[in-house]
Amino acid sequence: MGWRSHRTPPAGGPWQKEATIEDLRTQDGKRLYPTAAPRIRALLVGAEVASFHSPWSAEDSLRELAMLAETAGLEVVGQVYQRLDQPYPKFFIGPGKVKEVAALREQLGAGLVIFDDELSPAQTRNLEEVLQAGVLDRTALILDIFAQHAQTHEGRLQVELAQYQYLLPRLRRQWTHLERQAGTSGGTSAGGVVGLRGPGETQLEIDRRLIDRRIAWLKAQLADVHRHRELYRKRRRQSGIPVVALVGYTNAGKSTLLNALAGADVYTANQLFATLDPTTRQITLPGGQEVLLTDTVGFIQKLPTQLIAAFRATLEEINEADLLLHVVDLTHPNAQEHAQTVEATLRELGVADRPMLTVLNKVDLMEGLQAADVANLVAEMGLPSDFVAVSALKGWGLDALRARIEMALGEAMVALDVRIPYQRNDLVSLWHRRGVVEREEYDNAGTHILGRIPRELAREFIPYQNRPDVVRR
Ligand code: GTP
Repeated sequence: MGWRSHRTPPAGGPWQKEATIEDLRTQDGKRLYPTAAPRIRALLVGAEVASFHSPWSAEDSLRELAMLAETAGLEVVGQVYQRLDQPYPKFFIGPGKVKEVAALREQLGAGLVIFDDELSPAQTRNLEEVLQAGVLDRTALILDIFAQHAQTHEGRLQVELAQYQYLLPRLRRQWTHLERQAGTSGGTSAGGVVGLRGPGETQLEIDRRLIDRRIAWLKAQLADVHRHRELYRKRRRQSGIPVVALVGYTNAGKSTLLNALAGADVYTANQLFATLDPTTRQITLPGGQEVLLTDTVGFIQKLPTQLIAAFRATLEEINEADLLLHVVDLTHPNAQEHAQTVEATLRELGVADRPMLTVLNKVDLMEGLQAADVANLVAEMGLPSDFVAVSALKGWGLDALRARIEMALGEAMVALDVRIPYQRNDLVSLWHRRGVVEREEYDNAGTHILGRIPRELAREFIPYQNRPDVVRR
């Protein structure tokens, strides 16, 4: 998933007119804000908050926000930032800065002010009042872009869920659409949404309840999708084919690399996985080993918590992976911050200890740079020195990458021969989940398994080894 293409520009928003719940998703059923031409002029506001300990400078973060705004179809007309020890509770930025932003907004004729950090519902309200303009935060902007780009059924459900979760605490009295409908249909017992109105309920409560219901419905739908996904995973695990997941900052080139590596293999995919989600491909390594290569949603700094939660299930693919390929666009001026952000997100997802190979992409843009210069750059960024450099676009370095994947997978797993007593069936399940079963038999003493298990789990099984002498890499 990404945010490259420019589509219909968003305009207006709930502050400009009374919005209906339908408006919130709009005609195409996707957008958080209604769409219209011409492009809305947006003023960006950032803050470098010392207590956040972010590796990003306010300038760089604002530059990225500008890219996001452009991607969402807005016209960026100005940027302001402030250095703070702590955010101010009322406006996030300081009251003096708010005055400055208000004046600038007026001078530039901006209809929208976008903050680079997540604002509380109260902060958004306070700012809208003082600035006399629509106020968005980074989260709303990212949600909007995700909504434009979500393509699969699951993606759309996840984004809609995240949008409503974002919206719920921000719902206010001014969202009076249902009240109007109630008025025209004559009271509390009319059909449709109005029929939901209970005695003595305020409009806000009804809106909240409608959204709560929608959220519950979306969660149920997603649970269904996840059950199916789990079935595929189970079949995948039983097949014993290792999974390699591509992770990286947005725009690093993951999808391009997936396609480049899969190449002709796409059409020879094992029929067992014919219904795999479209971002997983089967490839063959030089030694003949088959692996599944899977793409994941691109990371970005300050990835909204709602989105991490909403995409957690998708990101579980990472959890299943035997190896992660961290794709880094070395030519980006913020490559170092990107890499740090990816590492932090992986930590947040609890998969930072997974075997990982760093892939430096887009080296075609660095032609003329000596290998030693690249190595220095990599060291400066604190990236692992055993990287593989490729150009996904030109197909450079792919053979070397395939060979490195093969090596890393070999290192990531250990072969074991164990007999697990029946009272430790939890370990048998663990092996099925995370390891590769080559042979499985049962006798009086327990389950006899021969196969491979990720190195970090091997310790659990050592006490049940059949013949310690057969342990091999
Ligand atoms: P998200 O979907 O946002 O997570 O992005 P992604 O990491 O999947 O990136 P994607 O493959 O969509 O590539 C992003 C942009 O970088 C595209 O315009 C690609 O054409 C370009 N790109 C990818 N790989 C290379 C490369 O090796 N060299 C050059 N010059 N451009 C590349």
